[in-house]
This record gives sequence, C-alpha cells and structure tokens, in this order.
Amino acid sequence: MNVTILYGGKSGEHEVSLVSAASVARNIDSKKHKINLIGITKNGKWFLQNDNELERIKKDTSSSLKIIEDEKRLVSINPAGGKFLGLFCKDKKIGAIETDIVFPVLHGTYGEDGTIQGLFEMANLPYCGCNVMASALTMDKEKTKQVWENANLPVVPYVTVRKFEIRTEEKLAQIIAKIEKTFSYPVFVKPCCAGSSVGANKANNKDELLKNLAEAFEWDEKVLVEKNINAREIECSVIGNNEIHVFDPGEILPTHTFYNYEAKYKDPNGAKLQIPANLNESQKEKILEIAKKAFAILDARGFSRIDFFIDKNDDKIYLNEINTIPGFTSISMFPKMCDAAGLKYPELIEKILNLGIENFNSRRSLKTSFNN
Ligand SMILES: Nc1ncnc2c1ncn2[C@@H]1O[C@H](COP(=O)(O)OP(=O)(O)O)[C@@H](O)[C@H]1O
Ligand SMILES: [Mg+2]
Repeated sequence: MNVTILYGGKSGEHEVSLVSAASVARNIDSKKHKINLIGITKNGKWFLQNDNELERIKKDTSSSLKIIEDEKRLVSINPAGGKFLGLFCKDKKIGAIETDIVFPVLHGTYGEDGTIQGLFEMANLPYCGCNVMASALTMDKEKTKQVWENANLPVVPYVTVRKFEIRTEEKLAQIIAKIEKTFSYPVFVKPCCAGSSVGANKANNKDELLKNLAEAFEWDEKVLVEKNINAREIECSVIGNNEIHVFDPGEILPTHTFYNYEAKYKDPNGAKLQIPANLNESQKEKILEIAKKAFAILDARGFSRIDFFIDKNDDKIYLNEINTIPGFTSISMFPKMCDAAGLKYPELIEKILNLGIENFNSRRSLKTSFNN
C-alpha cells in the first residue's frame, strides 16, 4: 500500500508528533508499503518530504522527524480526489501523491479533533483512526462524559463552568457556591478541550479555586471542576472497529504531584510506566469491560487509549478520558501495552492501517443519494 504519514501540525503537541511519527514510520514494513511523509508546520503548511528524511530517521533511531520546508514541495488537497488524486505536490514532476491510506500521527488540535478527519472525508481519502464525529466529541471532555454517563459508565463527578457564566462578581459567587455545595475541597480544575495537562491543577481552597479557574480559562471557554481523586492512573490500549480488542492495562506512576505537563514532557524521570498494572483479577476485568463499552458507545474507530483512575482511598474505578491518537513513541504507553500482550509494534501498525481501510470500505459502500 501507499501509506501517507502526516505529522507535526498546528498544535501544542507538535514536537510529540515528530517523535511519534518517526516511530510509526520506522516500524512500517517497507517491503510491503511505500511511505510518503508529509510534515505540517506550526503555521499549518503541508510539505512533502524527500526520501532522505525516511532514510535518515531509519539510520538514526533516536532521531525525531524534521519538516523541511521546500516551497516547491508544498502539498494541496483536492476535493473528492480519492487515493490517486486527493493529495498533490506542487512540484509538477511529482504531481499526485498516490495514497491508499493516510495515517495522521498528529495529537491535539487540528489533528485529533475531527477537523483534519473532515478534510480527509472531503478528499475521499481512507485514514486511520476515528471518524469526524468521535474525534470531535472526544476532544470535548464534558461531551464525552455526558455520553459515558448516559451509558451508565463511571465518570469522575464534575461541574461545568462556562466563561460567560462568570462574567460578573455575582455570577461567579453563584458558581463557586454551586461547586462548594457539590464538592468539598480539594477539587481538580481543568480546561474542557485542552490536553497535555495544560491549565490543569488541584485547588485546596476557595482562593486556589479562583486562581485555577482563571488559569484554566486562559486555555478554553469551558472548564471542568471535578472531585479531586487521589488517583492511581491506569491506562488501556484499545483497537478495533466493530470487533473491539482491549489490552491489559498499564499504570502511570508520576513522580510529581500529579501527571502534569512537567511529568509528561519535561522531566525524563517524570513518570514510571508499569505494564501490566498491578491489579487484582476483578479490577482488571472491570476495567477491560468498561474500556470496551467506553470505546463502543463513542463509535470510536481503529485505536484509542482509554485512561482510568482508581481512587486510592476506596478503590473506586473512574473513567477519566479517551485519547483517539495517543502517543506513539517507542516508549509510549499505547504501543507498549500492545507489545506486552504480544502484538509487536510493526504488527500493531499493520492492524491499524487495515482497520482504516476496512472502515473506509464499509462506509463507502453506503448510499449517499438516491442515484448511486
Ligand atoms: N479529577 C481529578 N483528580 C485528580 N487528578 C486529576 C483529575 N483530573 C485530572 N487529573 C490529573 O491531571 C492529569 C491530566 O488530566 P486529563 O483529564 O487526563 O487531561 P489531559 O491529559 O487531556 O490534559 C491526569 O493525568 C491526572 O494526573
Ligand atoms: Mg490525560
């Protein structure tokens, strides 16, 4: 197949994508597939990379992908073009970039949130992972919780606060009163549609709550205030379309106060990964069952990482969030949990590519009008 990897992107997680995508590119079976690398700059321009870039990262296995901005190799997208004419390189000698499937190894905004998936739909290009709806929905932590709650899945109790609701002192006081009536301190405050733990923090009292709300509202117009969980952080890899497979959970052991931005990206010793997580059989079974249901009810496709909390105080299990394009570096939880269960990285990628094709074919066989 012709596999086109998209990486970089207009997101705070641009750099993570450069590392994730390098791992994916290295692990695709190059005897079976031809790889096209398209780097998206922080300004949102798409550049086709030359073959040297793939060779370079294959030789230097610790290196991340770069984006060479050669204006001659700018990429454009052609509505309804499909796999032969969907993607174009400005360089006339190259022209159409034949693509059987796109693998967007992009995290966060404009990668994981349905926007780029919409572009693939318009171009009639098969792609890996969730469709537009599930991508967009899961970017919004409140909407995801509402779907899960409706399916009786255990989410962390929350109060949603919208920016316009706190525009006067009086309204703010009402919201604080509501939060204080719902929870006792500490509470956890986080932006609704951000990631990487940005703008997220624990509040031990009213002053900290006010401070954390102000900080979270710098990142989003909607903020969640949650019961603060004294949490074990348990994660699960899930793959599949209609038939869903869940892998044994792993555990993140952050060395910081919680799994914050520093622990995730800045401090190389910020967190330890323990795979499999040390759980008893009943806890494990429960988590696998919830993960499967959580994936299915969202109509997720291809692959995702579903994150849980286990309350250290009472052992209660909570669904925290879903990541529809989780970290894919060789030391990331998602591929490592699959590997621990015997699904090696190259086979995992192969599965994800095939699931993308299956999803595309199944949807393209549907009618879109009375005439076809
Ligand atoms: N209700 C909560 N109680 C305690 N810690 C939390 C809570 N919600 C989030 N956290 C901490 O913040 C981290 C980031 O929050 P999360 O909801 O996973 O958002 P994201 O990873 O998308 O930024 C979690 O991994 C956890 O360490
Ligand atoms: Mg998280």
